[in-house]
Amino acid sequence: MPIAVLVSGGGSNLQAIIDRIEAGMLDAEIKVVVSNKADALGLTRAKNHHIPTRVLLHTEFDSRESFDEAMVQAIRESGVTPQGVVAMAGFMRMVTPVFLNAFKGRVVNIHPALLPSFPGVRGQSDAADYGVKIAGCTVHFVDEKMDHGAVIIQAAVPCQPGEGGDRLGSRILRLEHRVLPQALQWLAEDRLTVDGRFVHLKPS
Ligand code: GRF
Repeated sequence: MPIAVLVSGGGSNLQAIIDRIEAGMLDAEIKVVVSNKADALGLTRAKNHHIPTRVLLHTEFDSRESFDEAMVQAIRESGVTPQGVVAMAGFMRMVTPVFLNAFKGRVVNIHPALLPSFPGVRGQSDAADYGVKIAGCTVHFVDEKMDHGAVIIQAAVPCQPGEGGDRLGSRILRLEHRVLPQALQWLAEDRLTVDGRFVHLKPS
């Protein structure tokens, strides 16, 4: 399955995908890694594994739509077809219908909280500050609303009172590295069907 991975930062989720592919446990090929930040460590991780990269700076576009158009073009040029998958792995931008229509039902995101609790950019620290006893992460299909689309998989971790967002975040990140490749493998096996908000997993 051809995939594109979108990153903005460290790219540890990208690394987890790469490692799973190289271990023969994820039937996917990363055709391109796209970043909206020129200094994203994720770009270096991609280059270390000879994966093509593209940098598209959103600040150089006059609208979200024109930025998304450029991303669609870069991803298509890389060989990802509309049947491929786009994984948003720590990509800190919302995408518009321009992007979603180009890869209909094929865009997934990893969010570091148990949605619908704690959407947004501070999911881990918001959960820690709230004092929840269980936190976690969510892989979901992307729709036009932030951190909103149908849920594919979630994983949970117990929280220690007062442990803080950074410590909790690093434990959640380890879970993210398991569930994002798992969701991609289900897509590669064509085992997911979506019925409104419900994602069904066909038996293998
Ligand atoms: C992850 O927690 C991801 O869920 C969030 O940003 C973090 C990025 O991690 N959106 P990385 O870039 O994959 O290391």
